[in-house]
Amino acid sequence: MGEDGHVSEAFDAVDVISAKRDRAELSDAQIDWVIDAYTRGVVAEEQMSALAMAIYLNGMSPREIARWADAMIRSGERLDFSGLSRPTSDKHSTGGVGDKITLPLAPLVAACGVAVPQLSGRGLGHTGGTLDKLESIPGWRASLSNEEMLAQLEDVGAVICAAGTGLAPADKKLYALRDVTGTVSCVPLIATSIMSKKIAEGTGSLVLDVKVGSGAFMKELGQARELAETMVRLGTDAGVKTVALLTNMETPLGLTAGNALEVRESVEVLQGGGPPDVVELTLALAREMVAGAGRDDVDPADVLADGRAMDVWRRMIRAQGGDPDAPLPTARETHVVVAPADGVLVQLDALAVGVAAWRLGAGRARKEDPVQAGAGVEIHAKPGAVVRGGEPLLTLHTDEPERFDRALESLEGGFLIAPEGSRPDLPPIVIERVS
Ligand code: URA
Repeated sequence: MGEDGHVSEAFDAVDVISAKRDRAELSDAQIDWVIDAYTRGVVAEEQMSALAMAIYLNGMSPREIARWADAMIRSGERLDFSGLSRPTSDKHSTGGVGDKITLPLAPLVAACGVAVPQLSGRGLGHTGGTLDKLESIPGWRASLSNEEMLAQLEDVGAVICAAGTGLAPADKKLYALRDVTGTVSCVPLIATSIMSKKIAEGTGSLVLDVKVGSGAFMKELGQARELAETMVRLGTDAGVKTVALLTNMETPLGLTAGNALEVRESVEVLQGGGPPDVVELTLALAREMVAGAGRDDVDPADVLADGRAMDVWRRMIRAQGGDPDAPLPTARETHVVVAPADGVLVQLDALAVGVAAWRLGAGRARKEDPVQAGAGVEIHAKPGAVVRGGEPLLTLHTDEPERFDRALESLEGGFLIAPEGSRPDLPPIVIERVS
């Protein structure tokens, strides 16, 4: 502390920003200081914005990335699941349209004997948030104390809840800043943001679902692969068994995008039905999680088929105050979009559907906005399907019919019908595995 009562700082923020602007590598000490000083409020928001933009433009070396993630982990608490009687595994998705996979996946993996601590977020923009979806279940509560979370993990095996404010607080500030400064879509910043939270959370193994395509952060396969490799390296170096699947997000997952609509579809999967793409991805991720936790003696397909996953779902929802038997909310108004001609649906664009669901009220434009539980888009035909002119393609749901026009605008050009006999080139759900 100086004579004037101020803590003397090890570095000057302008020097750190200038170094990155001029393409120098930041030292470990500079990175530790800038993350800590930003968390303390000593590095101002405008200075961190300039640094984030310099990183966005000039990148970071693998050493800088590892240190940046580590400094963000050290900005807050670390959870410890080592006292649990079963191994832990978690999944993180980089976000997509209709991506409700966490809902059937967490109880399925728990029913295979693995504890699943799924700390989730809310939706922002066109991708939905897991907590918003579950909050459409009457009574369900997203906030749990660390003690409640541990007790539920031991008892039920699966928890989906809001991440507490104690985990990686540096990321919380930085992510909000990146959101308003055009610095979100940058591999080093995304990788360190996601992995600092997952490593601080204390999971023993981790499966990353890195989405590729129009509805994802990463539109190109090469970019998605780079993100996956960077995150796998960060996890592995931190002692977390980490693998990534690159998965298709050109078209929405399943047949619904919207909160209660997606819960309904997830329950169908747990009942042994549901759309084939949702079932396929749920099982692919479950197999990775179960293997990562050393339980590859169990086949998740058997556990899904015999109802054990459904039993855990019901207990998981009840443990957080929800009623798994209560009717789900539905929107007051619907509008049907019909196929304009006979033919084969060759494209249904994930971004167009995601933006439509968002505009119907399923998502929020600002963090503090409420979401409508019943709003969203129901899909009646997926790419590859034969359609007849005049038959329903999509049903739009909302409580506020004045929202239909803007939702319909986002769907213009969002689907393509080719002459009968066309065979669209459909990518597989799981495109690649990175380990
Ligand atoms: N999700 C995160 O948590 N961080 C990012 O930077 C992007 C997506």
